[in-house]
Amino acid sequence: MTPAEIDRVFGRARLRMITGEHVEVFREEAREGEERRYTKRFLETASGDFRPWTEREWRILDRLGARGDAAVARVVRFFPADDTGMPRLQTRDAGPTVDQWAALVPLRRTTPVLPYVFGDCANWWALARQCLIAFEPLHALGFVHLDFKADNVCVPWKPALAARPIAGQPMTPDFDGLSLIDVAFSLLPGVDLPGALPLAHEAGFEYQSPRLLEALDEGRRGRHSSSTGAATSSASPRCCGAICPSSTTPPAPVGRASATRRRRGSSVSCSRSTAHRSLPRDRTAR
Ligand SMILES: Nc1ncnc2c1ncn2[C@@H]1O[C@H](COP(=O)(O)OP(=O)(O)O)[C@@H](O)[C@H]1O
Ligand SMILES: [Mg+2]
Repeated sequence: MTPAEIDRVFGRARLRMITGEHVEVFREEAREGEERRYTKRFLETASGDFRPWTEREWRILDRLGARGDAAVARVVRFFPADDTGMPRLQTRDAGPTVDQWAALVPLRRTTPVLPYVFGDCANWWALARQCLIAFEPLHALGFVHLDFKADNVCVPWKPALAARPIAGQPMTPDFDGLSLIDVAFSLLPGVDLPGALPLAHEAGFEYQSPRLLEALDEGRRGRHSSSTGAATSSASPRCCGAICPSSTTPPAPVGRASATRRRRGSSVSCSRSTAHRSLPRDRTAR
């Protein structure tokens, strides 16, 4: 890893994450020994006013986090709207995203040297298994993430230290500690939506559920469908209505496709590269 890459994944300075233009996310400065935190706020842009989604993200994380074992980022604090009319949400560091593990953290063993942790298929299995374990109790509550992808899943590292790992220090992804982030546009019964979900089909990056895509298509045509119900499983009727607004004009979908569309190039062997190509490149930058 280059020093810049180490800093992007493990650094402790304040860092603005690259996100869509509707939102701002900062990794906050943390002293050695202090836990890192992220602060997020949705913005008002020419495409619409996204500010109310910050409070919704807080409500969802707060409600799920109250269960103790829910695999979601933990809330540090919700700051109500200030003079700018923008609330902020601070969460505890949930670890590097799967995207960062895949794009920025090489793994070296005595032999062979792997380009990244998922070059070892045992780690793919561990990731897939832990995702299923994480989702089972969340789905039982009616939670549907709707934007489940590599940069919205965090996996901390072991040994757990509130410090940047030292060169040569053995470390490994702690799959048992996996958490989901970025839940503002998720569905959770009892947490109302401030408007129609600003989700869109990500054309250049195929990760979205076919049922969600069908629901979005139906919504664009102003219809509700059985697939909407399926996509939202046990979510409330209000949520389904918001995915497929038949009588309201949805806000412009958020512009996240360009960031997630960029993919890491790969020259590794066939089975690895297939998995590899499905991951977006890390999106952090100073
Ligand atoms: N609690 C957290 N722990 C670790 N990384 C985080 C956390 N919150 C945000 N991030 C980082 O910031 C990025 C953007 O945050 P996210 O909530 O996913 O916003 P967006 O809606 O822009 O995708 C994430 O992909 C991740 O790299
Ligand atoms: Mg995200």
